[in-house]
Amino acid sequence: MPVSQQSDKTVLTHPSGASAEIYLFGATLTSWKIANKERIFLSGKAILDGSKAIRGGIPLVFPVFGKGKAPHVTASLPQHGFARISHWKLVNSSDDAHTVTAQFGLDHTMISEEYRKMWPFDFSLIYTVKLTADTVETHLKVQNIGDKAFDFNTLLHTYFSIPDESKVRVVGLSGMDYVDKVLMASAKQDGEIAIRSEVDRVYANVQSTDLQILYGNEGGINLRRNGVSDIVVWNPWVEKSAGMADFGDEEYHRMICIEAGQVAEFIALAAGGSWEGSQILSVL
Ligand code: BG6
Repeated sequence: MPVSQQSDKTVLTHPSGASAEIYLFGATLTSWKIANKERIFLSGKAILDGSKAIRGGIPLVFPVFGKGKAPHVTASLPQHGFARISHWKLVNSSDDAHTVTAQFGLDHTMISEEYRKMWPFDFSLIYTVKLTADTVETHLKVQNIGDKAFDFNTLLHTYFSIPDESKVRVVGLSGMDYVDKVLMASAKQDGEIAIRSEVDRVYANVQSTDLQILYGNEGGINLRRNGVSDIVVWNPWVEKSAGMADFGDEEYHRMICIEAGQVAEFIALAAGGSWEGSQILSVL
């Protein structure tokens, strides 16, 4: 079966052997394998029972990035919003000679009363995962199905599995302005990004559609964006890792988050409006 539903997750299997797994909790993609090699990082301490956002994979940030700030309507929502901590439904699946597809849905009737009070808008999210022999595409459609406009941020918060943080280079952001959330300062990227300490940066309005995460002589990943303009780069390093109960102290060596989305500014979506954005990952 190209798409099979297990109790808590959906498994996509491509005739080439490529596969992907998506938990209904958060519609969090937790695995993407090509040539039997895992490309996505999932913490050994990740909690998978729906009591906490999954630490790893591709959690979906919506409708706020980080903590909202008063007086904005997102101020009381949990960090990174409710999409990653709500139970989604598998709404569709299909396959043809090249692509295996699964679609997941979340709307305002499916979130908790508590979140609904915090964010009182009628919305529908459709998240589509398309697996081919050598790519995985994750695509989010946001629809405002109510009669009031709303603002949102969104992010495909992708944790990549890497051989060793000291070998990783992120290429394609040189010359871009960013906000450094560690130093609380603005700066301009000069050349490639290397991980030598805690990194938490927001690059707004990135021009090139593609960036590369290179693993020394062990290949890497190409990330192509469609319809989203910002990139967040995150590695928690020593102290932040020690402070996270669902993340091993040494796991920062084996992951980097490169997160494509719309976070520097809110997107305003008029009543009846819709918005779409996606990323396509391919192995280099
Ligand atoms: C990143 C943020 O997107 O997510 C970081 O830029 C944050 O500041 C990280 O620490 C992880 O967030 P969380 O809520 O999953 O611990």
